[in-house]
Parts: sequence; C-alpha cells; structure tokens
Amino acid sequence: MNLVGSLFRSSIGRKFLMAVTGLVLVGFVTGHLVGNLQIFAHPDKINGYAHFLQSLGPALWAVRLGLLACVVIHVWAAVALALENKSARGPENYGVIKWLNAALASRYMKHTGVVILAFIVYHLAHFTVGAAQAGSFKTALAEHTMAGDFLLLGLPIVAKGQTVHDVYSMVYLGFANPVVSLFYIIAVALLSLHLLHGVDSMFQTFGLRNHSWVPFLRRVVSLLCLAYLVGNVAIPGAILTGMAKPAAGTTAAEKLAAVAVAAPSVVQR
Ligand code: HEM
Repeated sequence: MNLVGSLFRSSIGRKFLMAVTGLVLVGFVTGHLVGNLQIFAHPDKINGYAHFLQSLGPALWAVRLGLLACVVIHVWAAVALALENKSARGPENYGVIKWLNAALASRYMKHTGVVILAFIVYHLAHFTVGAAQAGSFKTALAEHTMAGDFLLLGLPIVAKGQTVHDVYSMVYLGFANPVVSLFYIIAVALLSLHLLHGVDSMFQTFGLRNHSWVPFLRRVVSLLCLAYLVGNVAIPGAILTGMAKPAAGTTAAEKLAAVAVAAPSVVQR
C-alpha cells in the first residue's frame, strides 16, 4: 500500500506511472491499428474480428475498464507533473522560453495530448456508440443517398451463417465524409507526434536510454512512429480518395437483400 501510495505522491512515482500507462496505451493503439488494417481485406475479416471481441463479454469490459484507468492515470500524472515543474521553476524563470531547444514533439506534448483526448471521445461516439452518426441517419432517411447506407449500420449483416455487427460498412461509410476523415488524419498525425517523444521519454524513465544508443533508439522510434502514422492515415485516406472501395455485396441494397433472406423480421422493423 505504501509503495502504491508513494507511486502516486512522488514525482518519480508519477513519472513511472505515466511511463507504464503509456506503454499499455501504446500496446493498445498498435494492436488496434493491426486489427483495423483488416478493413482492406474481405469484410468477413474485420466483422469476424469485431464479433470475436464483442463475444468476449465480461473480459472485454475488464480490458475496457483497464484502458480507461490507464488513460485517467496517464492524464492525471501529466497534469500533476506539469504543475509541479511550473512551481519548481521559480519566479526568475518566468517568461523565459525554456523550450527553445526542445524538439517539436516534446514541446507540444500537452497540446497533442488534449487533441488526442478529444479525438478519443469523438471516436467512441462515432464508432462504438454510434451517437455521432445521428445526423447522417436523418439525412439518409430523407435523401436515400450514399449516406443512406448509414441506415444499415444498426442492422446485423450475415457473415458465415451468423448475424454480426457490420463494422466494415461502418468504417467505409464513416470515412466517406471528408470532414470526418480529415479530423481522423489530423488526430492520428498528432498522436504519432505525441508517441515520438512519449516513447523516447518512456525509455528514459525506465533507465533504458543510455547515451551510447540514443541515436539508434531515436531512429527506431521515429521509424515506428512513421509506420504507425502511415498505417493509420491509409485507412481514411484510401477510403476518401476511392483508392479502397467496399467489396461487392456490401452496398446498402445488397446488404438489405442478404438480411431479408436470413432474418426477414429485422428488415421489416
Ligand atoms: C484510422 C484510425 C482508426 C480506425 C479506422 C478505428 C476504428 C475503430 C472501430 C471500427 C471501433 C469500434 C469497433 C466495434 O464497434 O466493434 C473502434 C473502437 C475504438 N477505438 Fe478506434 N480506430 C482508429 C483509431 C483509433 C485511435 C488512434 C485510438 C486511440 C487513440 C482509438 C481508440 C479506440 C477505442 C478506445 C475504441 C473502443 C474499443 C472498445 O469499444 O472496446 N482508435 N475503433
């Protein structure tokens, strides 16, 4: 208990908490990207994957709560350390631009962090809850346009004899909107920038960043962050530009027909 308490109370403990929670979150975003890249494969791939995750039930909720705890502790530690640094600086340093020599990524950790938080809230509303799609639903009803496909997001789609939530169409249709895609691209770019300094600093906290291999570490971290950026931008980018097109059988009409055959009561609802 004492150890846990001192982790939260001391500066070094907070730094450690920030590094550990950061590491867990890096693991999550990396795994999430690998899962999301299945959008470029057959729809059954990503839908089956999402269905598998949903089927985990209580285990999924345990992971979700663990991730939420990591986000809360990470942000709390960041704010606490920033306030501490500010008061430790002393009056003689006020107004001095201390960050002049700092790298771009480290200078803007707070700003990129705030945008990432806002992005997560929007993202959960967009894809997990579906609340941010309400407007599209209404427009779709009236116009029955491309956005009309959003109407089907509430419907299950038949895959391998089962009815599953159609994450594939949800992502394609979500990124057909340029404003949404642009926001995703900006957010993942800022997340990559955040990771560029964050991962470097995590090594420092864990005492694994000795001078002899700093240049090598920097190169590896930069390459990984670049790969992460490219992978993430590829999804909204390819969908928006039409480089990636939804597979045959996934348009609104085709899906309705499939659902009508497999579960007529759902279509009549
Ligand atoms: C192009 C980028 C991304 C795409 C296409 C994407 C896609 C998705 C989809 C489709 C879901 C809902 C899955 C379902 O309904 O079963 C989801 C959930 C989620 N995403 Fe993303 N995502 C992206 C980037 C990110 C990033 C950068 C973060 C974190 C900073 C993130 C964090 C989450 C979280 C926390 C959830 C909720 C997971 C859950 O419900 O258990 N996503 N994402």
